[in-house]
Amino acid sequence: MNLLLYGVYMDVIKTADIIYFSGTGGTAKVALALEKELIKNNITVNTYELKGEFKEEIQGDLLIILFPVYAANAPKSIDEWVKAAAFGKGKKSAVISVSGGGEMIFNTACRLSTIKSLAKNGYDVFYEEMFVMPTNCLMANSDELNAMLLNVLPQKAHKAVRQIITGNLHTKKPLIIDRLITKVMLIEKYASKLFGKHLTANDDCNGCSLCADNCPRNNIIMKNQKPVFNGSCVICLKCIYSCPQKAIMSKYIKSFIIKEGFNINAIEEKAKSIKNYQPAKEAAKGFLYKGVRKYLEIEGY
Ligand SMILES: Cc1cc2nc3c(=O)[nH]c(=O)nc-3n(C[C@H](O)[C@H](O)[C@H](O)COP(=O)(O)O)c2cc1C
Repeated sequence: MNLLLYGVYMDVIKTADIIYFSGTGGTAKVALALEKELIKNNITVNTYELKGEFKEEIQGDLLIILFPVYAANAPKSIDEWVKAAAFGKGKKSAVISVSGGGEMIFNTACRLSTIKSLAKNGYDVFYEEMFVMPTNCLMANSDELNAMLLNVLPQKAHKAVRQIITGNLHTKKPLIIDRLITKVMLIEKYASKLFGKHLTANDDCNGCSLCADNCPRNNIIMKNQKPVFNGSCVICLKCIYSCPQKAIMSKYIKSFIIKEGFNINAIEEKAKSIKNYQPAKEAAKGFLYKGVRKYLEIEGY
């Protein structure tokens, strides 16, 4: 049966669109891994990053929506795109989230509103999945754990694409408590405006304008060679972590930001020198790592 469906879908899906949002680059790496796997299956892929004014028309047979989990929800850029998307006419769709914590309490309902909005807009969402990448907030993972997560990415993408092109229903049922938490956490969408408005650049800022050029929300403008921050921030942390002068900080929730910074390319470079891993139960110990542990165990660690 699976083989038959696999054959059918291989025929049906000739082109795919990946629409993704990424603040600090982890989700961008997942997008690339998925793109590679789709291409290996002779599927033509158009990958679009949601940044600034995004008005691209999508044409593919399959739509993949991909986003980092922000406070148990999708980022606002994804909400906005999905709500405004042209009518799907039953187009096959997949929703994939990327998180630091994995599929654990409070995260499991994070794709629900995206799925509902897509369904309302005529898309047939038959697939959902969670990827785990090095976390970009609160506390950095160990180098070893980050290396394990990056190492597992190609095989996870391979598996996801196989499941997608097979076309079998692959959806999850979040717990009621998780659905509730996801709703309560919507408050983050309001808090992010405040966070953004209270970002400041200190005297170390040299006016290079990298933050303004790269902000995926167009939230930063340069005035007198200094960045001015506005109210459409989603706390993606890109400006803070990628400032060459480390000059940007917010007045609020400072403890949310990893003190040593976060650079996914540097993490990837470091990971290359780590060859031996402990089992997941050692590398990802404790309640907070439950989802990460499970993710790695399923992938053979
Ligand atoms: C504002 C914000 C909220 C986050 N909330 C969660 C969360 O609820 N659960 C989780 O597991 N990770 C959370 N994370 C971690 C990110 O989902 C994770 O690091 C992701 O890989 C970041 O993707 P990016 O590098 O593409 O921006 C959060 C990160 C940010 C910046």
